[in-house]
Amino acid sequence: MCRDDEFVGQTVVMTDASAIVSAVAVSTARSAPKAATAVGWTVATKGAVPRQLGLSRTALEANGFEGKPGQVLAIPNGEGVAVAIGVGEPGAIDAAGLRSAAAAFARAASKHAQLATNLADVEGVDAKVAAQAVTEGVLLASYRYTGLKNDAKNASPLVALTLVAGARTEKDIDKGAQRGQTIASAAAFARELANTPPTHLNAKDIAAKAVDLGPAAGLHVEVFNKDQLEQMGCGGIIGVNRGSTEPPRMVKLTWSPKNPTGHLALVGKGIMYDSGGISLKPSDNFHQNMKMDMSGAAAVLATMSVLKELKVKTKVTAWLMCTDNMPSGSALKLGDVLTMRNGKTVEIHNTDAEGRLVLADGLSLAVEETPDAIVDIATLTGAALVALGESIAPVLGTSQALVDQLIERSAATDEPLWQLPLDSKRYRKLLDSVVADMKNIGGPYGGSITASIFLSEFVGDIPWAHIDMAGPMMVGADDGIYAKGATGFGTRLLIDLASNFSPPA
Ligand code: BES
Ligand code: MN
Ligand code: ZN
Repeated sequence: MCRDDEFVGQTVVMTDASAIVSAVAVSTARSAPKAATAVGWTVATKGAVPRQLGLSRTALEANGFEGKPGQVLAIPNGEGVAVAIGVGEPGAIDAAGLRSAAAAFARAASKHAQLATNLADVEGVDAKVAAQAVTEGVLLASYRYTGLKNDAKNASPLVALTLVAGARTEKDIDKGAQRGQTIASAAAFARELANTPPTHLNAKDIAAKAVDLGPAAGLHVEVFNKDQLEQMGCGGIIGVNRGSTEPPRMVKLTWSPKNPTGHLALVGKGIMYDSGGISLKPSDNFHQNMKMDMSGAAAVLATMSVLKELKVKTKVTAWLMCTDNMPSGSALKLGDVLTMRNGKTVEIHNTDAEGRLVLADGLSLAVEETPDAIVDIATLTGAALVALGESIAPVLGTSQALVDQLIERSAATDEPLWQLPLDSKRYRKLLDSVVADMKNIGGPYGGSITASIFLSEFVGDIPWAHIDMAGPMMVGADDGIYAKGATGFGTRLLIDLASNFSPPA
């Protein structure tokens, strides 16, 4: 038993807003219940206007509402509100459009506890898919991080959501709504973890959370402490942890369904706080979000937490690589050389390029289990923001079939990915080191690519893809399904991948 090994007595004191998302009563009915004080009705750019809105098209238009996708107009009626929800040209809206429209509805109705809408019963989208998207949209737009606020008024009042369905669609809408709530709760859980301040959620705490949720989620959970990681030769995570007073944790989670249809491995970057190490970051606004440098691990843990509930047929094994990156007298130095789990040596040229060091060990361990594919997700490089901005995440990989599968799932979940080239032939030399197998940084340009080439040194022959979620890890203001702060990006995408996974050839 090791000195930093105890979980007992670990308290993470916070209201868990993801639990609030799962507590919302989501149901399906043939009409809006009386108790629903905010009811949303779809309006296309042409055709009839629902009589429940009590306004003609001319009156709606006089108030600037034309029925464009995602447009909303709240019409007070007594104590409640009827909300016109634009769905655009008849039959033209897709699942992503529905999710956004549902989010707009939720924001227009944000003072109300009981919501209802017929938005899931829309022309042109499969009822189950529509209901899932609408439920995700309403629930995720209602999420707030309130864990450390004393005033309960900061929380969303939402307690019930009713999806109004037709006789034909009722069953499917109900199924989709259940799935949507499960997935929204997972994404909210990832947001909750990432929004939590670094001292309220250290590596031990996130490991404790994984252990806590394991049994109910049908997962086998193993936690590795510092001594164990040292014995295993995980020089990357141990090296990054050297400057920290908090011990590291690696969490391995396994979802093992009977007769699995494939085996997917997931690796998440879990830098609980990234100060940069001795290559210290400046204290500007931009770098104040480095508590969220564990967003990859959060997305992976959140994904794992619902595989049982969603009856996922793929075996999924996950590694969360968790530690702080801190400066101190014991911290990693420039010029130091680390030996990673797979035996490769790395010369440190910048301690702020730490994510790839912890991922190197995680990827090496994943390879040892010979899965059909490995996907890692990480807030890895500022260069990803420079290349693709705040909404789109770079994806790179050694298997085009796997990258294509991810891009397909990203379209379904509206968590956008864009492929960058993993051009080792041209850029691998930027990582050449005089003393070790490689350096941990490339040159000043193409940082997301050189970081990925670094990672590719640890994936052997297993089809692999990497998602750099540095851009979309957070939003600076409320925006659609996102609430100011962590987005939970990647959670819905990875759940969708695991649910539809087919081993790349
Ligand atoms: N966690 C950061 C990357 C990051 C930046 C995430 C902004 C989210 C928002 C990562 O550890 C880092 O510091 N990367 C360095 C790498 C460089 C030293 C090669 C970077 O991008 O500056
Ligand atoms: Mn860093
Ligand atoms: Zn980092």
